[in-house]
Amino acid sequence: MTNKLKYFVANWKMFGNLASLKSANKINYYISSKKKLRSHSKIILCLPNTLIYFFKKNFHSKFISLGAQNCHQDEKYGSYTGSVSSYMLKNVGAKYVILGHSENRITGESNNVIKKKIKSALNQNLKVILCVGETLKEKNKKKTFSVIKNQIISSLGKKFNTNNIIIAYEPVWAIGSGKIPKTNKLETIFKLIKKNFKHKKAPVVLYGGSVNAKNIRNFSSVPDIDGFLIGGASQSPKKFIDIIKNYYK
Ligand code: 13P
Repeated sequence: MTNKLKYFVANWKMFGNLASLKSANKINYYISSKKKLRSHSKIILCLPNTLIYFFKKNFHSKFISLGAQNCHQDEKYGSYTGSVSSYMLKNVGAKYVILGHSENRITGESNNVIKKKIKSALNQNLKVILCVGETLKEKNKKKTFSVIKNQIISSLGKKFNTNNIIIAYEPVWAIGSGKIPKTNKLETIFKLIKKNFKHKKAPVVLYGGSVNAKNIRNFSSVPDIDGFLIGGASQSPKKFIDIIKNYYK
């Protein structure tokens, strides 16, 4: 079953300074002026931690939810130099947190650590966007779904609360590469994820990896895709807004 609401989630990664808040506000301004769009779209900006509070305080946006891009597995405070907890993120205005991104998995973040991070985020009432996806090598070995399944089961279990957890399917080989999966492959993968992890209702599943204003129409023919996790193109308000516009064209 398809979730009606379409998600457009920006992942700014390690980009942006105080001046970039103007970009974020352009998105806010656009969404504020589009009542119809708001009724069927959910816009989430996952900003660097340094900008979350400033955005919240300056723009008081009713239409944009804020998210962070990672958190420490300990829920509140601890002697973990350089780390930020889910409690601290919640405290500055985050409602979502991206976890398990391949850019963090590649530095050694294990499914077990991701599991602890998910627990801490949920305890703080943050919604989790859990990233999963196969590498090129795994794709070539036709292991795509078994990799995804293992990543989901080892950090969430077979049954999870589909109200609090969003799955983002991001093939590692598609991130920042300009390459995207074939439509028929996406159809199969999204169906499999939704079918295998249905618990009361099917989870919200996003696609991420090289999404841009030109290729977004390729995805609109796959109804099981509930939205997008957008990296590079989300740092420009024009590109991000064009993705949304073209999706509905
Ligand atoms: P790109 O859109 O830059 O490929 O990044 C995708 C991503 O990693 C989003 O989390």
